[in-house]
Amino acid sequence: MKKNNKSTTKKISRLLLTLFLLIVAIGLSVYLFNKNSNKSNDNKIVKTEEKQNIQLNQPNADWKAPDESTIPAGEPGNEIRYGKELIAHTSVYLGPKEKVATMSNGMNCQNCHNEAGTKPYGYNFSAVASSYPQFKKRSESWVSITQRINSCFSRSLNGQSLDTASKEMKAMIAYLKWIGNKVPKGVTPVNASVVKLPYLSRAADPIKGKVVYVTCQVCHGKDGQGQLNEQATEYIFPPLWGKHSYNDDAGLYRLANFAGFVKDNMPFGTNYKHPFLTDEQAWDVAAFVNSQSRSHKDQSKDFPELSDKPFDSPFGPYADNFSEKEHKYGPYKPILLAKNKVADKNK
Ligand code: HEC
Ligand code: HEC
Repeated sequence: MKKNNKSTTKKISRLLLTLFLLIVAIGLSVYLFNKNSNKSNDNKIVKTEEKQNIQLNQPNADWKAPDESTIPAGEPGNEIRYGKELIAHTSVYLGPKEKVATMSNGMNCQNCHNEAGTKPYGYNFSAVASSYPQFKKRSESWVSITQRINSCFSRSLNGQSLDTASKEMKAMIAYLKWIGNKVPKGVTPVNASVVKLPYLSRAADPIKGKVVYVTCQVCHGKDGQGQLNEQATEYIFPPLWGKHSYNDDAGLYRLANFAGFVKDNMPFGTNYKHPFLTDEQAWDVAAFVNSQSRSHKDQSKDFPELSDKPFDSPFGPYADNFSEKEHKYGPYKPILLAKNKVADKNK
């Protein structure tokens, strides 16, 4: 009996051991299988993203705005069309001699977001629907489309913020969403924004820029004040400085943004396929225009993390020892080199 008992216990413990090993083996293989299949899922995501980027980032595979015939019928369509009208003729509705409210300097969104925000390399709106809400280093916070629009109202249009619940704000958002409706989430088409021009090895020069400005003044005026239409409801040629122009916290006040924009879009009628100015002329005319007087906006609260300040931000304090003048006009290469060295050290 005893002997039998012993061998039964042995048998049972062997059985238990086998069972235990089996469970461990099954557990392990399930774990490994999951791990691998996650990996291949990750790969798949990366691959589709790459594909989308390739499709949209090839220099010749330009993003095109959707055709207006695809604007939906009825009320949603009317809202989109009103949004477009507001972008193209902002001043008529929200400018100094407005139909709806006086809250901006008389410029139209379209003056910078050319062709109602549909022009390749003309600050188009292709990436708005796909990339907002977006984390902004300027405010160290998440920014919605509404807040981004109001950021242009308070800087580029040197005005007040538009009521977020207003019919006008809703219409503009509807239009921007419609414009970007074919761009996959997270993707920025290559022809959004403007070209990034190569940096000059010297500082951009307002004196040389004044000479270039002769080609601009036929339209924008010798005094840079532009030209209003007959009813004075909007500009035929928008101002480039003075109190009806963008303030010194606006995107165009930074030389790289201005130079990139004029290279591909000015004189009016130019496009990125047939630029008129050389890179040097674009930098110098940017220096000239942005050394003229315009409204000031307090920006001491911008970029709480100083090392995030753009290299061409004209207002200190900075994380480096370059002056405001060097940051504004360049040469930028030493600034960027110093920045990279600091980034390397922090790694
Ligand atoms: C004086 C020029 C100017 C005017 C006028 C202007 N903007 Fe802008 N806007 C800019 C610049 C510059 C940027 C930055 C673009 C970039 O970083 O590529 C910008 C960015 C934006 C963006 C974010 C685009 C993106 O892809 O991140 C939106 C949305 C926008 N503007 C809406 C408007 C609206 C709406 C108006 C009219 C109420 C307006 N802007 C008027 C110059 C202007
Ligand atoms: C043939 C007339 C014409 C000439 C020449 C011209 N522009 Fe413009 N410019 C325009 C028009 C029109 C707009 C507004 C575009 C729109 O609303 O579609 C504009 C818009 C601009 C803007 C953005 C809006 C603003 O007022 O800030 C800048 C910057 C600009 N031009 C700079 C220049 C510079 C620099 C030159 C010279 C190299 C130049 N332009 C030459 C007609 C012209």
